Amino acid sequence: MKQWWKEAIIYQIYTKSFNDTNGDGIGDLRGIIEKLDYIKSLGADVIWLNPIYCSPDVDNGYDISDYQNIDPRYGTMDEFKELLNEIHQRGMRLIMDMVLNHTSDEHLWFQESKKSKNNPYRNYYIWRPGKDGKEPNNWGNYFYEGKGSAWEYDNTTGEYYLHNYSKKMPDLNWDNPELKNSMCNMMRWWLDMGVDGFRMDAINRLVKPKGLPDSPNPPTPPVGVYGYVVDRTMCANQPGIHELLHELNQRVFQHYNMMVVGETGNVDSAIAIDYVKEERQEINMVFHFEIAKNPILVDAVKFKEIQRRWWHVVEEHGWITQYLSNHDTPRQVSRFGNDTEYLYESATMLATLMHTHPGTVYIYQGEEIGMTNVNFPSIEYYNEKYTVGKYETMVESGIEPMQALNSLKMMSRDNVRTPMQWNNKVHGGFTTGTPWMHVNPNYKEINVEKEEQTQHSVLNYYKILTSLRKKNPIMVYGSYHQLYESDPELIVYERTYEEVTWLVICNFYGNKHKMPDKLEKRLRENSKIRLLLSNYYSNDKSTIKPYEACIYEIKIGDMKG
Ligand code: GLC
Ligand code: CA
Repeated sequence: MKQWWKEAIIYQIYTKSFNDTNGDGIGDLRGIIEKLDYIKSLGADVIWLNPIYCSPDVDNGYDISDYQNIDPRYGTMDEFKELLNEIHQRGMRLIMDMVLNHTSDEHLWFQESKKSKNNPYRNYYIWRPGKDGKEPNNWGNYFYEGKGSAWEYDNTTGEYYLHNYSKKMPDLNWDNPELKNSMCNMMRWWLDMGVDGFRMDAINRLVKPKGLPDSPNPPTPPVGVYGYVVDRTMCANQPGIHELLHELNQRVFQHYNMMVVGETGNVDSAIAIDYVKEERQEINMVFHFEIAKNPILVDAVKFKEIQRRWWHVVEEHGWITQYLSNHDTPRQVSRFGNDTEYLYESATMLATLMHTHPGTVYIYQGEEIGMTNVNFPSIEYYNEKYTVGKYETMVESGIEPMQALNSLKMMSRDNVRTPMQWNNKVHGGFTTGTPWMHVNPNYKEINVEKEEQTQHSVLNYYKILTSLRKKNPIMVYGSYHQLYESDPELIVYERTYEEVTWLVICNFYGNKHKMPDKLEKRLRENSKIRLLLSNYYSNDKSTIKPYEACIYEIKIGDMKG
């Protein structure tokens, strides 16, 4: 079925690093309003905002202390309404990041919850007595924080509370109907205000395993020093999660013309179908981690295998997402491309793959100008919890500091959190003050202003891709069929819709190739094949250049011709 959210091109904004308008070094809502025409000119039509609610900011806003207020660092509720209105005025939509797995420990609910065992909010969170003077189980927190346990002891009542992330982010108890009511009311409040959907944080982790058993796995190094196990499967996809999402759908989602995309670690295509199959009425699509957040670099063959599997989700009446980076990953051109010698070619090839594969496409701020990973010299430059926490435990367990840092650099989430590079002025035009986080020193070469003025820029290539999507339903609704599945370097596939077929040929790597014979023959002999887009100026049919990407169009009626 046709849906606006299938056709959408979603632009993810990490507000804190996007655009600062009052010189305090922190991006703000006014800064987004200022750049809405830029986002519109890029061709994106939905904006996803990372959390902007009140937060002590331990995990860059994912630790929410008040769901119904805007953090003053970003602006006011009036400014939020103004932003929403300006977005709608431009025919665009807004989705909010919704964090339902945990709150900040500074949230009123938690403040109450810890007061006494019979406080009305006690059961909003997960409290347990200790076991033999130790934590209730062997779980380690995902941030490698402190000595690594996922439990924190609280003196007032002499019990432990669960926190899968930071100890300042206690997990919520979704077995409690009152908590459910509070959350449904809160979500409706935002939807009634006019927001167009949610990106649901860690959505497949809301339901915890019955009895909270120990993880059977051995302790995870380096947390293993203390005997805890960082096992993200323990709370993923537990029995009851589908009933819960269906309930949220019935009570909230289905009453609005909205979209819901869930962030789901530990989900492959076979598990995903149960979350996104239309008739099950849960959520619309999920972010899987198989490509972008896979700790192992995905190669061309693996990439194709993953895409084939996820295509089945579409065939079974579900829907999927396409993205290579977000606020938790490295920069895509640094990870999958070549951010020095072939920056333009590889950034545009990767973009071609994303925009011409089936699914809703997501662009993470800065990706559209080919922003790269950052190479900070020491740990002091790093901010985000996971990198800092893991670094500290590694060093404590005896690993050399430089070695620890180097092993964390490529995957650090700070790579994507450096400020947006608008121009070649001080701090890349992000702020007139001191930015909360260092700007990537390459802002003089890589910035929006320069790319707007350069004909063959990553930015202008993105604009062509987005305008193609607006005009060609084949990019959204076309079928998907791969050719040369086992070719180790080329990614070749066809999309077909009504009378049209698109043939996409991408070189995933930086070496030159001979065009496979059959393909070359097809391109030469069918005079009606039309080249729609390529990231090289000259396009010869016998070789494929480093990171080359081409889209050909074939009209069925022309086939024989
Ligand atoms: C998600 C977010 C990440 C955050 C975590 C805890 O994975 O994308 O940024 O740290 O959830 O909320
Ligand atoms: Ca600001």
